[in-house]
Amino acid sequence: MAYEPTPEDKFSFGLWTVGWRAVDPFGEATRPPLDAVEVVRKLAELGAWGVSFHDDDLIPFGSDDTERERRISRFRAALDETGLVVPMATTNLFTHAVFKDGALTNNDRDIRRFALRKVMRNLDLAAELGASTYVLWGGREGAETDAAKDMGTALDRYREGVDTLAQYVREQGYDIRLALEPKPNEPRGDIFLPTVGHALAFISTLEHADMVGVNPEVGHEQMAGLNFVHGIGQAMWQGKLFHIDLNGQRGPRYDQDLIFGHGDLLSAFFLVDLLEHGVGASSAGGLRGASGAGGRGGYDGPRHFDYKPLRTEDIDGVWASAAANMRSYLLLAERARNFRSDPEVKEALAASRAPELATPTLAPGETVADLRADRGAYEDFDPEAAAARGYGYARLSQLALEHLIDAPHPT
Ligand code: GCO
Ligand code: MN
Ligand code: MN
Repeated sequence: MAYEPTPEDKFSFGLWTVGWRAVDPFGEATRPPLDAVEVVRKLAELGAWGVSFHDDDLIPFGSDDTERERRISRFRAALDETGLVVPMATTNLFTHAVFKDGALTNNDRDIRRFALRKVMRNLDLAAELGASTYVLWGGREGAETDAAKDMGTALDRYREGVDTLAQYVREQGYDIRLALEPKPNEPRGDIFLPTVGHALAFISTLEHADMVGVNPEVGHEQMAGLNFVHGIGQAMWQGKLFHIDLNGQRGPRYDQDLIFGHGDLLSAFFLVDLLEHGVGASSAGGLRGASGAGGRGGYDGPRHFDYKPLRTEDIDGVWASAAANMRSYLLLAERARNFRSDPEVKEALAASRAPELATPTLAPGETVADLRADRGAYEDFDPEAAAARGYGYARLSQLALEHLIDAPHPT
């Protein structure tokens, strides 16, 4: 059973994913509510390793303290019983009408203060349950009209909010890092920090920048027409890939949250290759091991699925879809390994001069003056001859596709 998930694979799911009752803007729920305990048991049975949650997934908004404690202890008992862990938690700052103009960037200062307290309260629970990542998805931080918000002032408040939360984590001594999740739109017309690039630039302005990274979601970058693999590559390169939301999306349209692999499959293949082998794998001409949690080079954090089971599915379809996410990942990981170890691929990479990209452009110790004095670099360089050379990417790209679909090997 090569594609049977095990806890070593670090697959995790949000309570809100399999628990989604399929309410959409046009239709009512098509499935009954799922109990958190049942979700934990079933995920464990399917081979998952972790479960994540929004505060309100576990404890309905407005619950009193007794109800809160009852829900938490049932959940904790289910975790103990199954061995499932809580790698990540997050806050619902979008469902209740109080957040209709956002939370950390709401014009209403009292709502911003309420939002901070709501996050802090769930940070306490996240720490108690052993989570090491806390996701901040600002789904309602945004606007429908550019008349509504001064961008700079909104970003001032966003920065203040994230720094205040990081400060809280530090003061409490929690072993938790914050991860911002970008999304271009939906539910707001336009959401602040719409892409991985915007989020990385914003993070660099924070007082607690070292504690804050990103939690990119496949579909969200693709909604913006961007290359997800490139976004993840840059986040890894900057040591900022703290967490990831895997799912599927077919082009720029509403947020589909499909099963992983059920959107842009070729991109999913290269994504798994990147997560498994790290940045630098292709220019190094072969496999390169992951190098520490969120560190530059590799990624060894949770493979977290943030998807929605199709609205058409009954409960059996829900569990089939959860299993499908993990199976897709394992199938792609195997094909990515085969791709990287195939001698023909290595040869094609060398022919395309991929390893040469790893050679610094200036020689060790070479100065700008040395470069200016190097006639070979300019005066005697033959751009026409260099321009005439092909890079062989068509062959390389086809080799990737053939590995992906397990094409029969030419004899
Ligand atoms: C989306 C988002 C959300 C967030 C989650 C964490 O699909 O719009 O991914 O699912 O990830 O709510 O706050
Ligand atoms: Mn999504
Ligand atoms: Mn997400």
